[in-house]
This record gives sequence, C-alpha cells and structure tokens, in this order.
Amino acid sequence: MRQAATTEELRREIATLPRPLVLVPTMGALHEGHLALMRRAREAAGPHGTVAVSIFVNPIQFDRPGDLAAYPQPLADDLAKCDAEGVDLVFTPAAGGMYFPDRSITVTESLLSRHLCGATRPGHFDGVCTVVLKLFNLFQPDAAVFGEKDVQQLAILRRMVRDLDVPVEIIGYPTVREPDGLAMSSRNVRLTPEHRADAPRIRRALEGARSLLQFGERSAAPFLAAARKHLEDSPFLRIDYLELVDAETLQPIAQIKRPSVLATAVFYDDVRLIDHMTLLP
Ligand code: PAJ
Repeated sequence: MRQAATTEELRREIATLPRPLVLVPTMGALHEGHLALMRRAREAAGPHGTVAVSIFVNPIQFDRPGDLAAYPQPLADDLAKCDAEGVDLVFTPAAGGMYFPDRSITVTESLLSRHLCGATRPGHFDGVCTVVLKLFNLFQPDAAVFGEKDVQQLAILRRMVRDLDVPVEIIGYPTVREPDGLAMSSRNVRLTPEHRADAPRIRRALEGARSLLQFGERSAAPFLAAARKHLEDSPFLRIDYLELVDAETLQPIAQIKRPSVLATAVFYDDVRLIDHMTLLP
C-alpha cells in the first residue's frame, strides 16, 4: 500500500497509479461502514484499477470545537485496516496540511443544506463541499464512494458535481449497521455503555413511524409524532432535529406524495448521532 502525507507526494503517486481511480474520502476512525465503501470502490475500480482512501479530520466542517477535539484518530489502526482491504493508496495530510492560513474561497450550497444537519450545524456543509472538491482536484478520481448514512451530505455532493461540472461519478452505498440496528459511526465509541444500550431506539423510532404507511397514512404530522414519542421515551437523549423532507430537494413536506426521508439527529450528552429512513408513497 502506498501512502502520501503531503499534497506534493500525493500528486506524484497519482501520476504513477493505474486508472480507473476510485476514491473513498473519510475522516478515519474506520469501522465496517467505511470498509464496505472500500470494497464497493474495488468493485468499481476493478482488480487492476486503483482504490484510494483519504483520512483527514477536516477542521472546517466542525461546528463545535469540542467535537473536533474529541474526534478519535487511531491512525496506525486505520492504516492496517486499509492495507487489509487491499487499498492501493492512502492520503493522510497533517491537520494544517490542506488549507492555506489565508484561504478565502469556500464552496457554498444554498438549498439542500437549509434543513436537517445544515440547519443545526452552521457552515458544516460548506466545509464538506470545500474539502471534497479539493480532494477531487488532488486525486482527479474517476469515481468516489459515499455512504447513504449521511443522506444530506450525499445529496449535496451529487448536486455539487452536477452544478459545478465536476467530472467524478458519485457512487452511494447503503448504511452499514450494528447487529442491534444502530448505524455504525466513528462517534459510537464515545457513548457510555448505558447510552450505547439505548441508542438502537433511534432506528426503531424511524421504523415505527414508517409502519404507519401500511395503514394508508400520508400526512407528515403522525409520522413525526410517532418517531418523536419513541425518541422522547429515552431518559438519556435530546433531539437535535426530527424532520420529514422530500428525498430529492430535502425540503420539509406536509404530505408523502413522492419518495421522502424521515431524518433525525440526537445527542447523548455531547455525542451527536444521525439516522434516517426512506419512505415511499
Ligand atoms: P466520515 O464520517 O469518516 O465518513 C466517511 C464516509 O463513510 C462517508 O461517505 C460516510 O457516509 C460513510 N459512512 C459512515 N458511516 C457509515 C455507515 N454506517 N454505513 C455506510 N457508510 C458510512 O463523511 C465524512 O467522513 C466527511 O464528511 C468527508 C466526506 C470525509 C469529508 O470530510
């Protein structure tokens, strides 16, 4: 496995590696969800193509300094996992290695980021779009794989490549879950045992709400009420948001007439977890 720690090293490596090149951008603390994306990338790259992974805890997408400081960074473990997955190239820039101190250009998305995480994490998606566009310019990948777990991120990145004519195919991959249904996340390791035991309710709350579809329900309010009740039954969690939005525009809806997304973010103390469920009319 090749490793590059600076953008200069990366450019040199990229020039020698065979195409197609498929990129999996991550912030490290790799779990089965990330590894599944790498396998998907190998499928897209083929046995003779290149699978590349970036590991960079992107400071400009964190809205809470404490969250950035507490973000796990087990780099040696992460590199071993990439190697075991047959990754060809890993890019591990230093904390200050991606941005000029006087950088003054940011990519801003102004519609899909209005609700959900975009509403409660100001500047978050500007930080994501900016770093992903930089990674695309550095790697010049043919394709890049992103998890559906971050449903709003995936929609916004698809919109970014469409609106800015970025020549990269975006491949989505379904959410990988723990056996009890909790979506895998690098933040799960920060939950206390009590909170970890409670957290599968997030998924159950969304599933419970979805079951209303079977009874012909199509108004947003009962779906939101059912999910809220289940979440609020927890003695531990605090709801950051719970919204029902159109799957394409990510704008709130009153009636389910098209594919829709019931999405939530909750806090266990300062650990923020997200999940969502697609609802089909
Ligand atoms: P990170 O949270 O490390 O996630 C990296 C990729 O793994 C993202 O595409 C995310 O959607 C995917 N992922 C995380 N958990 C998953 C799960 N349980 N199942 C499937 N896929 C999962 O998302 C980011 O990093 C950053 O915002 C990044 C895109 C790297 C930009 O900094």
